[in-house]
Formats: sequence, C-alpha cells, structure tokens
Amino acid sequence: MTVRAVIQGCGHYLPKRVVDNSEFERTLDTSDDWISSRSGIKRRHFANKDETTSVMATLAAKEALADANLQADDIDAIILATSTSDLTFPSAATMVQANLGIVKGFAYDVQAVCAGFVFALANANALIISGQAKKILVIGSETFSKLMDWEDRSTCVLFGDGAGAVILSAENGKGDKYDRGILASDLNSDGRLKDILYVDGGVSTQSTGYLRMHGKEVYRHAIEKLATTAQDSMKSAGISVEEIDWIVPHQANIRIIHGTAKKMGITSDRVLTTVQDHGNTSAASIPLALSVSKINGHIKKNDLIVTEAIGGGLAWGSLVIRW
Ligand code: ACO
Repeated sequence: MTVRAVIQGCGHYLPKRVVDNSEFERTLDTSDDWISSRSGIKRRHFANKDETTSVMATLAAKEALADANLQADDIDAIILATSTSDLTFPSAATMVQANLGIVKGFAYDVQAVCAGFVFALANANALIISGQAKKILVIGSETFSKLMDWEDRSTCVLFGDGAGAVILSAENGKGDKYDRGILASDLNSDGRLKDILYVDGGVSTQSTGYLRMHGKEVYRHAIEKLATTAQDSMKSAGISVEEIDWIVPHQANIRIIHGTAKKMGITSDRVLTTVQDHGNTSAASIPLALSVSKINGHIKKNDLIVTEAIGGGLAWGSLVIRW
C-alpha cells in the first residue's frame, strides 16, 4: 500500500475589478496589440485594498472546502504560496487559518515566486506521504499589482491578482502510475540568476519596492528549464507524453506556454490556458487554472496532468498528478 496525496477539491477567487489591455493605452505608450501578441494577455484582475492576499486566499479556500465536502476543522495544515503576503510577518497562511476558524494543526507560507504553488504542492505531498498530515489546504494567492511600477510598460501590463486553492487528502494507492494523486515532483533553483527577475525592495530597504525583470533573459531560460523539469518528473512517474491528458503550465506568457509544450512534443489542444483572462498571477496562476478548468469541464477525475512553473530565483519545478 502506498500513501498518495489526492486532490479532493479546489476553488478560486478573482478580484472584482477587471482591467482590459485598452485601459493601459490611456496612460502608457502601449497597445492591446503589443500586449496580446507578445504575451497572450487580454485582461487581468486587480485587487482593491480590501482584497488582500490573505482575504483572497480565504475565499478560495472556502470554495475548495465546499468542493471537497469538508469542514475547516478537517484540515491539518495550510501551506500558502505567495510573494505578496499582507505583512512581512505573520504569514498569510496563519491569517487564513484564523479566518477559517481553525485552531489546530499548523500553517506557513512558501516563497518561490511564480514556482511557489509547485513548491507548496511538493511540500504538502511530502508531509502527507511521511504521515505528518492527512488533509492539507494548499493555496496560491498573490497581489502582484502592489509590486508594479505603473510607469514601466515592460512589466506592469503582464501581471494580475487572484487566488486558487486545492485540498490534498491522504489516500491509499497501489503504488503505480494509475493511482490518483501526486505521482512525482521535481524542484530546482539557481540563485546565480537572481538579477533577471526580482523586487528592488524589502526589509533591507525598508520599502516594498517594484518588480524588475529582464524579460528576454527570463524568456531564454524559461522554455528549456520548464520542458526539462516536466520531462524529469514524467520520467520519475514512469509516464510518456502520449499518456498526458493536460499540461497545466504557469500562466505567464502564451509564447512560453506553447514553446514549452512544443519542446515536450505536446499539441496545444492538450494545454490549458487562462493567461488571456488572468495575466501572470505568479503563485496563484496554476491553482486558478486548475479550478477554472475543472469548473468548465476540461479536467475530469482520473485525468493525468503535468504542471510546471518558473519564477524569480530562479526557481522552477513540476509535478505529475492524476486528478
Ligand atoms: N508596449 C509596447 N512596447 C513595449 C512594451 C509595451 N507594454 N513593453 C516593452 N516594449 C518595447 C520595449 O521597450 C522594446 O522597445 P525598443 O526596441 O525600442 O527598446 C520593444 O518593445 C521590444 O521589447 P522586448 O523586451 O525585446 O520585447 P520581447 O519581444 O522580448 O517581449 C516580453 C517582452 C513579453 C516581456 C518577453 O520578453 C517575455 O515574455 N519574457 C518573459 C517574461 C515572463 O514571462 N516573465 C514571467 C515569468 S517568471 C514569472 O512568472 C515571475
């Protein structure tokens, strides 16, 4: 018997304010055509001041609990992937714990920027298979709009806000690739690449700072690293490209998404995309894509999913999951 971390439910929250590309045309030297042709993004949601990272995370978590038919009290642990926690500390995860009225177990944030949700899921999987928790709420929630330099057209048009959540539950499997749950994961980072994507503020500067990105450099690393990590976790899970039902990539840029799929030998009809509607929501992008794709009927029970992400650090990784 093998213990597997199975996705029992999911949910999401998107801020009420939707901003189309055309809104940027009023304040910046840019166009809908430039933004959508370079990134695939058509619109994104921006949080208002009450829609903080922990508030959105809580709303997504409540949806996931309802979807899983569980009460908040059933949860043993909360892992929240974010780079935009409401405050420097305490963690947004403990705020969610309090918002949900949970008074047992433990909660903490994981910070691996856009790869955060992949790192958080792998972390939750390790806790479940080692017997330290049975039901874990794994959330990605971000307010990247708070990190934007609104005069920098090369970055502020690319990002958005939102939250997504899944509940992982310990279940017994046979130990083969037909089990439901997380079948394999692969995590990587390379701190030498810290200067190509970073925020120029933080505790050491006593200011929040702005996101800075060398887009071409990030692009250059992304496709190669994402395809390699996806292939490495597929190898660990013992699955072939033909067996995959869906690639659920980090939703940063449609050209990176399609370039990675092509390198993996996967046709675009098996790639789920939400980047057109959400922009890049960093650690929230994958759980948002999972939840939206489940609601619209694309993802179904027993589907084999490969998910991959890369972000600041650089940090990147992937998972193979049978839904
Ligand atoms: N509107 C109009 N023109 C613009 C805009 C804009 N919003 N932004 C930049 N430009 C201009 C540039 O100033 C440049 O002008 P110049 O040639 O006169 O200097 C020109 O467009 C070309 O700029 P490039 O940077 O060469 O454009 P590129 O084709 O590389 O596309 C992009 C830029 C979309 C950022 C691309 O490099 C990319 O996708 N990189 C990956 C970025 C990414 O996805 N990051 C997130 C992944 S990691 C994470 O999720 C945190």
